[in-house]
Amino acid sequence: MSESISLESPSISRRQLLNFLTGAVVATTTGTLLYPAAKFFVTPTEMGKDGSILAKDINGNLIPASQILVEPPGTRALVAGLAAEPTYLTVQSDGTLHTWGIVDNCTHLGCTFPWNPNDNQFQCPCHGSRYDADGRVIRGPAPLPLKIVSVNLEEEYIRISPWTEIDPRTGQKPWWV
Ligand code: FES
Repeated sequence: MSESISLESPSISRRQLLNFLTGAVVATTTGTLLYPAAKFFVTPTEMGKDGSILAKDINGNLIPASQILVEPPGTRALVAGLAAEPTYLTVQSDGTLHTWGIVDNCTHLGCTFPWNPNDNQFQCPCHGSRYDADGRVIRGPAPLPLKIVSVNLEEEYIRISPWTEIDPRTGQKPWWV
């Protein structure tokens, strides 16, 4: 059987769209917003056989890593990730990107949330859950740490892949695998 690559856009529910739009508005006040509000199309050439994808910017274009790395350490840049999920990438103190990204989808009921640099937390506006800088739950009702994805540079671009290894925060198999 030959392999094929779908030309269809990733599906996104109305709830996901509304959550994303809500989170995008908040994110513009707290950090760098690179994710497009109306562009969810992913061309097949940007997808890897492992389900990975190249991150895009606010215009729906591939993001050169340098576009994010000019931001100061600690910046959380919101980009389009796997299955069009908004995903936070972190600029580290050594000027590199963190090797995992954090998916902007609360593990309580799926709201999107902003990064609060003053508290060094992700804070969900829906029911008050809080997560530390690595996505661990600090305060519920969120039951689980935030989903993470693998982040690697591919030439000048950023490849985001499913994280299927041990979750480094818990030392256990990821809850999403
Ligand atoms: Fe985030 Fe309920 S959806 S706390």
